[in-house]
This record gives sequence, C-alpha cells and structure tokens, in this order.
Amino acid sequence: MRDPGLTAAPSIDPATVRVTFEYVAWATVWLLVGTTIGLVASIKLHWPEFLPYAWLSFGRVRPAHTSLVLLGWSSLALVGLSLYVVARTSRVPLWSPRLARIALWLWNLTLLVGLVTLLAGVNRGPQEYREWVWPLAVGLAAAVVIDGYVAYRTVAARTLPEVYVSNWYILGGFCYLAILYVTSYLPFYQAGLGNTVVQGYYMHNAMGMWFTQLALGVSYYAIPRLLGRPIYSYALGVLGFWTNLLFYPLIGAHHFIFSPVPWWLQSTAILFSVGMMVPVWAGTGNLLLTFKGGSGAVRRSYALPFFVTGLIGYGLSSTQGTMEAFRSANIYWHFTNFTVGHSHATMYGFITFIAWGAVYGLVPRLTGREPSPLAVGVHFWLALVGVLTYVVSISAAGILQGFAWVAGQSFIASVIAAEPLWLWRTIGGLLMVGSHVVFAANVWAMRPHRVTMPAPAPDAAGSPA
Ligand code: HEM
Ligand code: HEM
Repeated sequence: MRDPGLTAAPSIDPATVRVTFEYVAWATVWLLVGTTIGLVASIKLHWPEFLPYAWLSFGRVRPAHTSLVLLGWSSLALVGLSLYVVARTSRVPLWSPRLARIALWLWNLTLLVGLVTLLAGVNRGPQEYREWVWPLAVGLAAAVVIDGYVAYRTVAARTLPEVYVSNWYILGGFCYLAILYVTSYLPFYQAGLGNTVVQGYYMHNAMGMWFTQLALGVSYYAIPRLLGRPIYSYALGVLGFWTNLLFYPLIGAHHFIFSPVPWWLQSTAILFSVGMMVPVWAGTGNLLLTFKGGSGAVRRSYALPFFVTGLIGYGLSSTQGTMEAFRSANIYWHFTNFTVGHSHATMYGFITFIAWGAVYGLVPRLTGREPSPLAVGVHFWLALVGVLTYVVSISAAGILQGFAWVAGQSFIASVIAAEPLWLWRTIGGLLMVGSHVVFAANVWAMRPHRVTMPAPAPDAAGSPA
C-alpha cells in the first residue's frame, strides 16, 4: 500500500462495500455533469451568445447546476460515505444494503428527471435550491428517509454501548433534512413574506444541518482512522454538535438583511450567525488539533491533504459568512457576486474537499485498490488552484459591484467592472472541471474486486473501528 494510513485496512461485508462504492461512483457522475453545466453558466456571463438555445439559457442551467452539485454530487457522496461510517463505527454490517441501493436509484431517477424538467423550463419559479416540481421533491424525500432509516437501524444494531460522535452528526443530519424538506414544501409557506422566511431557513439549513453535519460526521471517523490516533477531544465534538443545533436553525434570515422580513428576525439571525463561531471553531480546532504532531503522516498520505484543506476551508469561509451577516458589510455584499464566492468557498473549499479526502482515505480500505498517487496529486492541485482562482476573482467582482451600487452608479457600470473577473471565474472553473475528470478516473481505479478480505480483530479502544 502506498498510503501509510491504509496499512491496517479493515474489512467489511461485500454488500456494504458494493453499495458504498455505487454511491460514490454515481456521485462522481453527477459531479461531472453538474460542474460542466456550471461551466456553461459561467461562460454565458461573459459570452452571452455561447450556446444560444432556450433549454441552455442561463435561467435554466443555473438551477440545473446547483441541483446536481448539491443534491447529486455532495449529497450522494456524503450519504454513501456515511453509510460506511455508521456500519464501521457500530461494528456491524450495514442494515439492508438492498434498501440503500433502492434509495440510490430513487435519488438517481429524481436527479435525472429533475435535470430534464429544469432544462425544459418546468419548475416552481425562483425558489432557490427547491426549483423542482413537487413530485420530484417527494421522490427525493423518500430516498432520504430510506437512507436515514438504514443508517438508524445500523446504529441501533451496534455491538458497542456508546454511539460514536460521527453517528450523532450523521443521524442528526438525516433527521434535520427530513424536517427541512417537508417544511420548505408545505403549501401554506409558498407565498408572500412567509415564503421568504422559509426560503432563508431552507437554504441555510440545507448547508448547515445537512452537508455540514454529514461532512463533520465522516471527518470524525476518517481523520483519526487515517492518522491512527483518537480525536483531540471527544467533548469538543459533542459541544460542536449541540451548538450547531442551537445556532444554525435561526440564522436563515441573514439572507434577507434590509428586506421586509421583520427587523427583529434579521437581528436574531445576525446574533446567531456570530454564535455560529462556537461550533465552527470547536469543529475546525478539534479536527485540526487531531493532526498535531502528525505532519509526517500528512506528507505521506494522499487523502489527508484534502482533509486539511477542507477544514481550513470550513473555518475561514464560515468566518467570512459571519462577517457577511453584519448589516455594515451586507449593505455592500448582498446581491453581489461576493455571495457566490462564499458559496463556492464553502461548498467546494469545505464540503467537496472533505468528501474527496474521505473517498481517497476510505474507499481503498474497503475495495483493496488504490489510485495512482500522481493522479491524486494532479487532482488536488488542479482543484485547489481552480477554486482559489474562482473564489478570489468572483469575490473581487462582488466587491466592485457593491461599491458601484452603494456609490449610486448605473447597473451597467458594475457589469463593465466585473466582466473581466467573470472570465477569470471561467478559467478557474476549467481547472476545477479538469480535476473532476482526473477524480473520476481515480474512482474507477478504486473499484471493488469481486471478493473482499476477511474481518480483522476489533481495534484498540478510543479510536473508531
Ligand atoms: C458561521 C457559519 C456561516 C455563516 C454565518 C454564513 C453566512 C452567510 C450569509 C450571511 C449569506 C448570505 C449573504 C447574502 O445573501 O447577502 C450566506 C450565503 C450562503 N452560504 Fe453561508 N455562512 C456560513 C457557513 C456556510 C457553510 C458551512 C456553507 C456550506 C456548507 C454555506 C453556504 C452558503 C451558500 C451556498 C450561500 C448562498 C445562498 C444563496 O443562494 O443565496 N455557508 N452565508
Ligand atoms: C462541486 C462543485 C460545485 C458546487 C458544490 C457548486 C455550488 C454552487 C452553488 C451553491 C451556487 C449558488 C451560488 C449562490 O447563489 O450564491 C452555484 C452557482 C454557480 N456556480 Fe457552482 N458549484 C460548483 C462548481 C462550479 C464550477 C466548476 C463552476 C464553473 C465555473 C461553477 C459555476 C457556477 C456559476 C456560473 C453559478 C451561478 C452564479 C450566479 O448566479 O451568478 N460552479 N454553484
């Protein structure tokens, strides 16, 4: 094995191996499709004549991009990895890999029909990240409930007395997404100011109570596992879980500062956005401190650098989010490209890098196959340089836009100022999509053998299985 973290490869039953890999593989397909569509959207902003077809108009490709990268790539990758984590930390096989596979096909079917309907112009209007017509939302909700049920039954069947901290985050994420999704589609919240408040609640909690929860849950398993040592502080992990639950659900209104949403609700959202620094730095600090004294392992491993980048991305971009919530900053940044910079710093710089770290760190352990370290390095650097180019250029465009608007200049003046930076976003996006092609080849290289290894003895207490 070339990655030292892989030497003590555990085994797991073949059915769990297969279904985990299938989730990761399908997530990778949606990553390729979703980010290629993102690239098309980006090109159109500085070259409007590019692909001038109604079904590829900006208003259609934008939600197609966001739904595929959020519900396809990020969700499927994290769900697949989470199913593996709940099984390993409970030291039992996954409860019903068959049901998990049915859920996977339900995800895939809704994603495909969602893509076709959005490109055909069939949607619920400007309801960001929930543009799909309701039957598709029902399909997706059913898939989430099934996956959550499989995860819950696996943890319930555990052979250890305690529930490992990863599973708090993972089961919490499944519970919260179900509540969130149902609330956001309730018919009486679909109009007027109530709709705006629910939109903010939905958008931010999808990020904080779903992607963040699953990414942290997977990290709390994979990082100590790859470093071969326990997490820095179990108590900080639990503190992060409860404070995330305390502060996140009430920050949605920070998306609508200076809007007709009640002033007190906006102020509450700002206050709780500051409170969010507690779980963010408890999580970032705890996981980064787990690396203390392990720089050699990071240098030798190809998975750990993804985790280090993702954790730094989590701490820095969330702090940026807290800054954006203050009225004095929001007056410049709201409605501008700065928010798009924050979205990619978080969803890519944090969530996507963590998902990649976990794929490279865990999948070879269960399939027994590794990608070429050179190809993983190419993936890492293309993705990192790509996302930095994207985030820096688009954030600078946002600052120019904000200053132009506050100074009362014409809208077209802000477009002219931002346009060169949109080209830089496309250049960054090209590198990112290039890195995804390399990642797809690496996933293929890690595909499972037909037969897997026998189960080893349980590990020493204090570190996850
Ligand atoms: C302390 C934690 C965070 C705070 C306080 C925060 C704050 C904010 C604020 C104020 C906005 C709205 C900006 C505006 O429209 O004017 C925003 C947007 C956004 N944030 Fe965060 N953020 C945090 C962490 C995260 C994380 C961890 C993620 C992803 C996992 C994320 C993803 C997003 C996305 C995708 C948007 C754009 C939503 C839209 O379409 O308008 N944020 N954030
Ligand atoms: C896994 C990778 C990616 C994720 C998770 C992701 C996520 C997102 C999110 C959440 C938004 C909504 C932003 C907001 O409203 O604030 C968005 C918009 C967008 N993304 Fe991505 N993205 C990814 C990769 C890419 C790539 C590679 C490109 C190529 C340039 C790209 C181009 C765009 C464009 C052009 C928009 C629309 C921005 C606008 O409306 O001004 N994205 N993406």
